[in-house]
Amino acid sequence: MSSNEKRLAGEAAIRYVEDGAIVGVGTGSTVAYFIDALADLKDRIQGAVSSSEQSTAQLKKHGIPVLDLNATGPLALYVDGADECDPHRQLIKGGGAALTREKIVAAAAAKFVCIIDSSKRVDLLGRFPLPIEVIPMARSLVGREIARRGGHPVWRDGTVTDNGNWIIDVHGWQIADPVALESELNQLAGVVSVGLFARRPADVVLVGDQVM
Ligand code: A5P
Repeated sequence: MSSNEKRLAGEAAIRYVEDGAIVGVGTGSTVAYFIDALADLKDRIQGAVSSSEQSTAQLKKHGIPVLDLNATGPLALYVDGADECDPHRQLIKGGGAALTREKIVAAAAAKFVCIIDSSKRVDLLGRFPLPIEVIPMARSLVGREIARRGGHPVWRDGTVTDNGNWIIDVHGWQIADPVALESELNQLAGVVSVGLFARRPADVVLVGDQVM
């Protein structure tokens, strides 16, 4: 059921792609369906800006040009999945460790279309452990700061991000004010980025092929 909804969402996002566009592309199993559908349109778009090595490989396999964000300027559209989505279209992302590049491409895009299956919908963010990308030497320092705030930090041992950094997953937070928490965590020395997408939430959420 979940994979069918992911496929429906990935395919439904195609309707937001305009002719001649450069499309921002996220990461994950739902986005993989979007990339497969985008391949059918590849002659009608200029190309894609990718948020991960994984998505880059899939885009290239389909012959979709992968462009450098520094060369493209602002994007009209970013399509990505999420690990959790609340009723305000605020998200937890980073289950696939691609959160930093995802946040960069989302920030560059005028419209962020988030594609999920219904299992990702929550009233309050935090059941899914919140991923935080950290500079390796700051892992313990950031972990202590999280514990001081009532979270339970778990190092995702063995995972190195595309940027050469590490991931801490924070368990046990019920996130009542995602904008405030994102801002606060962004200030900690050694934090590269936080998997909360609340200051810049999604503009449209597709649950399967339905707009939420
Ligand atoms: C990648 O780092 C994540 O932000 C993904 O967007 C998220 O994990 C969703 O993945 P699935 O589409 O595979 O559920």
